[in-house]
Amino acid sequence: MAMKKMQTVTDVDLREKRVLVRVDFNVPLDGDKVANNSRICAALPTINYLLGQSAKVILMSHLGRPDGKKNLKYSLRPVAQELSSLLNRPVLFLDDCIGSDVAATIDELDDGSVVLLENLRFHGDEEANGDEFAAKLASYGDAYVNDAFGTAHRAHASTVGVPRLLPIKVAGFLMQKELEFLGNRTSNPERPFTVILGGAKVSDKIGVIDALLDRCDCMLIGGAMAYTFQLARGENTGNSPVEKDRVGDAIGAVEKAKEKGVELILPVDTLCTDFLDFPAKKVGKLQTISGQIPDGWQGVDIGQKTIGLFAKAIAKAKTILWNGPVGIFEIPQCAEGTFAVAKFVGDSKALSIVGGGDSIDALAKSGRSNDVTFISTGGGASLEFLEGKELPGASALNWTS
Ligand code: 3PG
Repeated sequence: MAMKKMQTVTDVDLREKRVLVRVDFNVPLDGDKVANNSRICAALPTINYLLGQSAKVILMSHLGRPDGKKNLKYSLRPVAQELSSLLNRPVLFLDDCIGSDVAATIDELDDGSVVLLENLRFHGDEEANGDEFAAKLASYGDAYVNDAFGTAHRAHASTVGVPRLLPIKVAGFLMQKELEFLGNRTSNPERPFTVILGGAKVSDKIGVIDALLDRCDCMLIGGAMAYTFQLARGENTGNSPVEKDRVGDAIGAVEKAKEKGVELILPVDTLCTDFLDFPAKKVGKLQTISGQIPDGWQGVDIGQKTIGLFAKAIAKAKTILWNGPVGIFEIPQCAEGTFAVAKFVGDSKALSIVGGGDSIDALAKSGRSNDVTFISTGGGASLEFLEGKELPGASALNWTS
């Protein structure tokens, strides 16, 4: 059976066209500066390709959640400056995303120019996918490109309303790469395929755990969600954060792993503390505990024996997917497990995919970002896609059979 293929920028003629590009420039700001430009850098290949086609590149994005109101705290202006220095050419910033000034400016654009529209979410109709708003945006382009993988799980005006109105609607290189790595490469992985999942809550990750148990050979679970698994074994977890209402999900995951022949590795020891003040980044006494965690103590990282088990499993893998820290890595005394995982993944020669803000941060802090195959720019979008959910932003593009 022929596989459906998503059209991309290289499949259509975009030469000298007005190309509306949905990017995900939802980046952290520090005052009026961009604090982390990785999402902007990730969109550069598409922008540069379009400039090579002498297209008029009209970029649109959201930043934060301004709730449909203009709030300059969420202005994209700092992003325009950062983009301009990365591209080494002027980027024209417009202080709204629709309106007569926007229309007039776009009418006058020279081929090969770059425009960034102000935050789409200053208009409530972006998230509400309002018809009129989508039609106005669509009127500024002859063609539509979606390179905003991080926003592909949202059915908003700029992700589904606009492409509905334009005949040419294709994926950018980033969208294509994200779907390839998080989709094909984890559905038909080179084996053994090892998944490392961390983070605070079983409830956030259960969909991904369930979906990946169908695809992987080995799953390592760390982070606070491991304590809910420990509770599910009937063990005491002391003061560790647990989700009592998710014990059933944890039991279900353990059973599914058995059925599927997936090696599920849960922590065998835990670094625990008798005092934690997360906002102040302070911990009290620390000790490594195997098994039951006594009252008055709580887990903050995986222990040494677990680090050893994770090392062995990661070293055997041919494909690795890592999402989520395995301890409270923001506090130096509780960061060893997460940095160890970053090192093992970085040392591995396997195809490695890393997603989730904290794991990416840990990778960067250990200087290993260049040692992995692919770093996903998606947060919620990556998780939903890995869960097997449809991404409206990807479905809205042209697909060929
Ligand atoms: C993200 O950062 O995950 C995306 O930009 C989507 O943002 P949202 O969750 O506010 O829709």
